Amino acid sequence: MDTHTKVLIYDFGGQYAHLISRRVRELGYEPKIVGTSFTAEDMAREGGVAGIVLSGGARSVYERTAPRVDPGIFDANIPILGVCYGHQLIAHMLGGNVSQGAKGEYGPAMLTVGKVLLQFSGITKKSLVWMNHRDTVTVVPKGFSITAATPLTPVAAFAHAARRIWGVQFHPEVTHTEYGTRLLKNFLRAVGGATHQKRDIVGECIDEARRTIGGRRTIVGLSGGVDSSVAAILVARAIGRNLLAVFVDTGLMRIGEAREIRKTFSAFPLRLRIIHAGSRYFKALKGVTDPEKKRKVIGKIFIDIFNEEAKKFRADVLVQGTIYSDRIESGLTEHSSRIKSHHNVGGLPKNMKLEVYEPLRNMYKDEVRALGRMLGLPDAITARQVFPGPGFGVRILGEVTTEKASIVQRADGIIQEELQKAGLLRRIWMAFPVLLPILSVGVQGDERTYKYPLVLRVVESRDAMTANFFRVPYPVMEKISTRITNEVREVNRVVYDVSNKPPATMEWE
Ligand code: XMP
Repeated sequence: MDTHTKVLIYDFGGQYAHLISRRVRELGYEPKIVGTSFTAEDMAREGGVAGIVLSGGARSVYERTAPRVDPGIFDANIPILGVCYGHQLIAHMLGGNVSQGAKGEYGPAMLTVGKVLLQFSGITKKSLVWMNHRDTVTVVPKGFSITAATPLTPVAAFAHAARRIWGVQFHPEVTHTEYGTRLLKNFLRAVGGATHQKRDIVGECIDEARRTIGGRRTIVGLSGGVDSSVAAILVARAIGRNLLAVFVDTGLMRIGEAREIRKTFSAFPLRLRIIHAGSRYFKALKGVTDPEKKRKVIGKIFIDIFNEEAKKFRADVLVQGTIYSDRIESGLTEHSSRIKSHHNVGGLPKNMKLEVYEPLRNMYKDEVRALGRMLGLPDAITARQVFPGPGFGVRILGEVTTEKASIVQRADGIIQEELQKAGLLRRIWMAFPVLLPILSVGVQGDERTYKYPLVLRVVESRDAMTANFFRVPYPVMEKISTRITNEVREVNRVVYDVSNKPPATMEWE
């Protein structure tokens, strides 16, 4: 029998509560995300709760209106792990002190473990952790010990061994924290109980799609990316020819994308329509420079085309490949702040006649890829590099024109080709050019030039929530730079983006 031990995860509006929940589930426990109004009494009524995680959040615990928890949970004799904001909240609520640090600490940091206890069992004395904070704990509550530090954060972790209350300033749930899973396992050891349950994910997804859609005619937009491809094939498996997949060529996609899509999907029993709408997009984007406005404009045309196609097909349901990180960064979960509005999430008009179904809404990218493989999709799709819906629209800074789209398309072709030749494509999340709205001086063929500089951005990520720039070997970088300046005559300079996420995002807009 599968008996699960419940772990409550308090969501304070950080981007990570759902990711913690996923890790807890992967480790064989039953996570339940709750809001701050969930009291110790509610917990007792819920039954079976054996652990509590207080997750991250963007506020400062010392603000009067900052989210708190019922102090009763600290007396329930249940192990508690505070992460980032949760770590600070424990310190604040139990009599320690939190204040604003002189500097923020964003991205990788070297953690030194001072006191091992169960919290750091099996974790090396020095390891990399992922930080994302400005406030910092300066005094731990009575009875607590400081267990680890980083150069910028003297109280990077603390613990009260007997009460089984732990805090960590860093994020153990992200893959960039070297021993993150080990720390979570250690916490779950303190929680005790739990057995694993095997799930038939494909079966569950197909059942859900059939139950939700029934006999209704359905439409899906293929973007060429992994998410919409997996969503389309999944729903096609569930409802067959009642699904129409539409691919809109926006003119802001990779060179030859439409051809590639036709070829790839011809192997599947999928109804596919390709619509060439480049000129419509460029016309609407004339004079638009604000990133969010661009997304809205691009999203609106996309939706208009969809409505037209849906009408023709007499569809009632629209399938979207929205995944969890899209929703969270668009500020659609309680308390979370809006980072950017992904067009496939926001911007749906209120009067839209189609009912939206998002089969991948709770999955992370790597889970979507795994589902794709389970559905029998080839590597050509599941290992496909991510490509955002607005495409090169958000990689051309400033106004988008056909001339600029052509520059980034040609540069992108070179980037993809060279990374492919070097065997690096499989290791990265995305590689792309960003065209800047400025000109710089160069010299070509003994003549002064005044042309566009182009940014080369190559990032690694597991779940889109965090990322680091990829260390492209210099000879490959040089080859890309040389080819771009030789072959794309509008460009005379290539620079490499060496920023991680956070503090940057992957895209420049
Ligand atoms: P950021 O730039 O937020 O990107 O670090 C995270 C991932 O999301 C993709 N992205 C988008 N995808 N519509 C999309 O469909 C969008 O508006 C959008 N903006 C960013 C981005 O390419 C990366 O993979």
